[in-house]
Amino acid sequence: MNILGIETSCDDTAISIITADEGFTILGNTAFSQAALHSKYGGVFPNLAKREHGKNLIPLLRASLSEASMNIANKIPLTNEQKERVEELLSREPELLSLFIEFIENVEKPDIDAIAVTHGPGLEPALWVGVNFAKALGYIWDIQLIPVNHMEGHILSSLYQNGKIDSSKTPILSLLISGGHTELVVMETWLNYKLIGKTLDDALGEAYDKVARMMGLAYPGGPLISKLAEQSREKKEGNPYSLPRPMIHHENCDFSFSGLKTAVLREIDGTEDKEKIAEEFENAVTEVLLTKTKKAIDLTNPKILVVGGGVSANTHIRKELQKLANEERLEFYIPEVSLTGDNAIMIAFAGYYRALQGEYNDDFIANGNLTLYGT
Ligand code: KG4
Ligand code: ZN
Repeated sequence: MNILGIETSCDDTAISIITADEGFTILGNTAFSQAALHSKYGGVFPNLAKREHGKNLIPLLRASLSEASMNIANKIPLTNEQKERVEELLSREPELLSLFIEFIENVEKPDIDAIAVTHGPGLEPALWVGVNFAKALGYIWDIQLIPVNHMEGHILSSLYQNGKIDSSKTPILSLLISGGHTELVVMETWLNYKLIGKTLDDALGEAYDKVARMMGLAYPGGPLISKLAEQSREKKEGNPYSLPRPMIHHENCDFSFSGLKTAVLREIDGTEDKEKIAEEFENAVTEVLLTKTKKAIDLTNPKILVVGGGVSANTHIRKELQKLANEERLEFYIPEVSLTGDNAIMIAFAGYYRALQGEYNDDFIANGNLTLYGT
């Protein structure tokens, strides 16, 4: 089956086309990062993200279809009834509407069986663009829709290896670390989740971004802090800074990163050594991640440890979690670096497994606070 994936939950607009049968084949994969645009706000500005998604979706869809050899020109004018319905569905996305009509009237319906779209969690105005777009496409092309949880996408893209996803080995413990989330979630049986621990305040990526901002670095700051930390590590000069390891001794598997941010702020006086602060910050968060993940392993007895989300691109965190998995004799899955950030391939993967469970739906809403587990 061919699946179109759509992702607009944050500041990446992404469209993919995959074939799913025995394994997965990626036919088309396109994305546009708005990070540079949001950079001057020091974070993602939701209404700007919404507008940009509206402008980017059609060019990316066109590019994805071309990559999949499915972009076949044909004049197919919409009926008045179709036009009215599309105008209704995209009434809150003016940037998208005119591009949509121009595109759809000039292309043949592609060989796609289902449209998977992120409907949460994320920034609601941004999520709605993708959801409304999916509804308009589904309506015109008569293709079924599958609402997808973005975090499930991250988990599945971590499990994806050599064109396949192994669904046979549960429980799977996932450490999800992104700009909006920090949580330990166990998949007890395939696609059934339970929350084990989560951040009580900032997400890990958010903490990286805020610390970067305090040091005068651009958004997103995670990769920049990580680079400084690596430089300091290579110098092996020792480190005069000492930052707290928040909640490391607490019994539970919850996290807290906002105090750490405040502790960093205290060290910043214009004469600070940015590389060494970055290293100490990264060491502090990594120690906390390792301790809490170890606790969660003892609690859930998983067969597999998965790490997902944008922060899983971090070299030091990847290395240390791999060591932990080895010590615990767990299979370890972490996405290839190109799939750590937000993308639409992961949304198509999740869409496929949800389609297998019959979770087609053409009447759903965007939900910024959507979770993987019941609340
Ligand atoms: O999953 P993601 O792409 O978007 C969300 O769904 O949030 O994660 C983005 C986050 C940002 O906070 C970014 O700074 C962080 O991931 N990040 C990193 C690294 N690469 C991206 N943090 C630490 N080290 C990195 N190498
Ligand atoms: Zn994400």
